[in-house]
Amino acid sequence: MKLAIIGAGYVGLVTAACFAEMGNEVICMDADPKKIETLKAGRIPIYEPGLEDFIKRNSQENRLSFTTDLAAAVQDSVIIFIAVGTPQDRDGSADLSMVLDVARNIGKLMNDYKVIVEKSTVPVGTAAKVRRVMEEELQKRGEKLEFDVVSNPEFLKEGTALDDFMKPDRIVVGCDDPRVAELMKELYGPFVRTHHPIIVMDVVSAELTKYAANAFLATKISFINELANICARTGADIAMLRQGIGSDSRIGNLFLFPGLGYGGSCFPKDMQALIHTANSYNYRPRLLESAEAINLDQRQIFLKQIRQAFLGDLKGRCFAIWGLSFKPQTDDIREAPALTIISHLLAEGAKVRAYDPEAMAAAGQHFGDNPAIAFVNSSYGALEEVDALIICTEWARFREPDFERMKSLMKSPVIFDGRNLYKPGKMARLGFEYFYVGKKI
Ligand SMILES: NC(=O)c1ccc[n+]([C@@H]2O[C@H](COP(=O)([O-])OP(=O)(O)OC[C@H]3O[C@@H](n4cnc5c(N)ncnc54)[C@H](O)[C@@H]3O)[C@@H](O)[C@H]2O)c1
Repeated sequence: MKLAIIGAGYVGLVTAACFAEMGNEVICMDADPKKIETLKAGRIPIYEPGLEDFIKRNSQENRLSFTTDLAAAVQDSVIIFIAVGTPQDRDGSADLSMVLDVARNIGKLMNDYKVIVEKSTVPVGTAAKVRRVMEEELQKRGEKLEFDVVSNPEFLKEGTALDDFMKPDRIVVGCDDPRVAELMKELYGPFVRTHHPIIVMDVVSAELTKYAANAFLATKISFINELANICARTGADIAMLRQGIGSDSRIGNLFLFPGLGYGGSCFPKDMQALIHTANSYNYRPRLLESAEAINLDQRQIFLKQIRQAFLGDLKGRCFAIWGLSFKPQTDDIREAPALTIISHLLAEGAKVRAYDPEAMAAAGQHFGDNPAIAFVNSSYGALEEVDALIICTEWARFREPDFERMKSLMKSPVIFDGRNLYKPGKMARLGFEYFYVGKKI
């Protein structure tokens, strides 16, 4: 099939590459000329394992192309995916300006029947808004072209995005016309050969399903963090508790790790947007509000632990930071807990030596030219003469480090582990003062 993907970000690029990999002819459009130039030159603007190979192969075999020309993308394709950003607006709602901008422009440029697919995460009612702005444009042009609007939320995870897209647990299609549902099933058929379902539902339910999925996962993270805080007071062991409940198949082990809370480009903004939607329908979602509040507190609790260990005064102290991205296997730092931790350390007069395998460039841009923060290109290099190490992201390479080497580099053997990577008993034997999430206070 001939497809257009509008937006070449984390979702758009993966969507484009995976559809091309299945033999479709895909044109990927972005408004950012630098991004498109990079892609045309065979480089990719983000870090996502495996993506570069997919993009190179499909570009060389002429199934995947990149453009800034929306008209070409729209006119050459039947199905058009909108995969632009939907950041948080000032009032917490999802900012739909980029989605509606694209829809309006499609209305201006379309020449034939089109299926418009919402791939971006958008609140209930967005498909209706997309339809309205497109109809307005067609009316202005005096054209009577037909089109359908489908909701097809994306559930991929950064870091394993290709695998998630190629072998999804399920595909959700929100669609009011059975013929369009059939077309979407045909498009996604090759991705569900292992019989994972394509679930067709009405548009509004599909729009809400994406938020419900993210809200559930975010709440699960806040749940285990709340329990970690109770462990810290009662002396119970959060690692054992996690195993004790996670082995119950009704509960499950995934998304049940105590830590610095969720970050990233999705959970925080999607929780806010869902709360906003509920409020606008006169419902107060108390569970979601609490999950949000617990998540924000989690970083403050960790900072408090650091301050207490240094008797409330961080001025002149130097900290190594391991991990800047919001989770491993990505260079994405949007809403990353590390940013909050570092900002507070700097504001309190501390110095920081930061290391991340992929996110140093993005973090460098975020903090600008600040002499109090150095980006060091090795995990051990970051430890030189520091008062303590702070672990913010659970990259695999941090799990089994050479502890003796670490001790020899650090001014004092102190670790604040925001991801509970190590066993407290072992750390004590190795001579580290080891703080972790849920440690007895
Ligand atoms: N990142 C994820 O893990 C993930 C997962 C599932 C769903 N989502 C959702 O997918 C959507 C996109 O997320 P993302 O992380 O890929 O965002 P992103 O910021 O990485 O990418 C968005 C892209 O859209 C482009 N763009 C903006 N306005 C445009 C326009 N008018 N025309 C063409 N291109 C335009 C930007 O230049 C950018 O390259 C969001 O709604 C997000 O919530 C993201």
